[in-house]
Amino acid sequence: MHVLTTLAQLRSWRTQHAGKTVAFVPTMGALHDGHISLVERAREAADLVVVSVFVNPTQFGQGEDFDNYPRTLDADATKLAGLADVVFAPTVDEVYPPDEPPPVIHAGSGGQAFEGAERPGHFDGMLTVVNRLFDMVAPNVAVFGQKDAQQLHLVRVLARDRGGPEILAVHTVREPDGLAMSSRNRFLSAENRAAARVMPETVQAVVAARAEGPVKALRRGRAVMAAQPLARLDYLELVSPKDFSPVGEDFHGEATLVVAARFGSTRLLDTEDIFVP
Ligand code: PAF
Repeated sequence: MHVLTTLAQLRSWRTQHAGKTVAFVPTMGALHDGHISLVERAREAADLVVVSVFVNPTQFGQGEDFDNYPRTLDADATKLAGLADVVFAPTVDEVYPPDEPPPVIHAGSGGQAFEGAERPGHFDGMLTVVNRLFDMVAPNVAVFGQKDAQQLHLVRVLARDRGGPEILAVHTVREPDGLAMSSRNRFLSAENRAAARVMPETVQAVVAARAEGPVKALRRGRAVMAAQPLARLDYLELVSPKDFSPVGEDFHGEATLVVAARFGSTRLLDTEDIFVP
């Protein structure tokens, strides 16, 4: 496995492997088993696997701790040994050359609600770096986690608009008690970590009540969350996978459940694809 830091090195590596397909997993590092499941899916999808480790400054807002985001490249590379062919860990100037900045990609209406409302500009920064990394790595396929459902939706739109790569989604990996794995879980106090079990319990309550229709099913989920005093619900909605807008009471078909809640200062997300009969 190679650890590369420049576009020139990456291009030279690609030239040496001309004719091989490449699967790409973009990450911000601090890798956990959820990331590893993405890399394993990438392994199945192409001849070669590139994993980027880049803490992207443009997707952090004011007060979001870009400087203190965990940077654990050595540990990440150790976890990827035997799974990835290349770890691409560029500098900020390599991704955003001051003399030739990459185009800013705007998330549009699909990026305004939910996480976009909570974190203004976040999705523009995320799409801008993903677009730039797609240009740098030139993958055939790219793998994203379903846990960040709105990110996945927006990346699919980006890939469709730019004509590739193919986007593969991997189901959320969970802790034994059901909590979705996330780099943010490490910030939970023991008390909040125990309380955070209410996230998958809320999801399961909506899944169990889906035959009652969206409004009643969501009400049941909200009741589960409200019974946990340490949780502060930001949103719990069923959205259309087509445009990420909330579905109506008469909706039937495939929907995506999205939930965000705070436990202390840590904000957690969860999601599940649900068929509403
Ligand atoms: O999901 C993430 O870790 C980031 O948003 C991504 C896709 C690596 C872009 O910086």
